Amino acid sequence: MITGNPGTGKHTSARLVAKRLKAEIVDINRLAIENEAVASKTAKGLEVDMKKLGRLLASILKKKGNFVVVGHLAPYVVKPAGIDMVAVLRRSPARLEATLQERGYIREKVNENVSAEILGISLYDSIKAFGKRKVAEFDTTGKEPEQTAGDIIAAAQKKKPRRAGAVDWLAVISEEEVQRFFDY
Ligand SMILES: Nc1ncnc2c1ncn2[C@@H]1O[C@H](COP(=O)(O)OP(=O)(O)OP(=O)(O)O)[C@@H](O)[C@H]1O
Ligand SMILES: [Mg+2]
Repeated sequence: MITGNPGTGKHTSARLVAKRLKAEIVDINRLAIENEAVASKTAKGLEVDMKKLGRLLASILKKKGNFVVVGHLAPYVVKPAGIDMVAVLRRSPARLEATLQERGYIREKVNENVSAEILGISLYDSIKAFGKRKVAEFDTTGKEPEQTAGDIIAAAQKKKPRRAGAVDWLAVISEEEVQRFFDY
């Protein structure tokens, strides 16, 4: 499974991992959009019925085969049974800000996502839902997608240790950045 904040590189990595492992991608966002029973459009974006989405995912993942499940909602809708590893992608606040601005996100949405990344919410929620032995963290800042995909596969196949908790953006950002990103 590949999760993390929007803009950290999940889909780019998932495509490469799935290709190398000859696995099928299960894209949580796409499932939600394609199944109207699961998501409805509101002024603020998509409103997802997490219970229905969870059931839909469970029915897909019980099938035979290898899957790469991808999405920022993963820790909240995927059951731990049958999941080998959870890769949580991280990206520096400054890089993430640039990526989200390039996408045309409004300031409030940029800050919501960057501050969630600074606090490590995706990692915390993944460890809470899947246990720390299944969770590994990958910093994509300044890395090539191929490198990240290779690192994810090595950790999934236990050829490299699964590390989590080393990324600490609060220790490296400036006071000015704290003020800017948490102002919303
Ligand atoms: N090491 C890396 N691994 C993956 N993607 C990277 C890496 N370095 C840079 N990128 C780039 O980061 C950008 C964002 O990636 P992507 O769209 O895959 O993010 P995402 O996490 O899937 O976002 P969302 O949750 O909003 O769908 C892309 O332009 C991608 O090429
Ligand atoms: Mg994506």
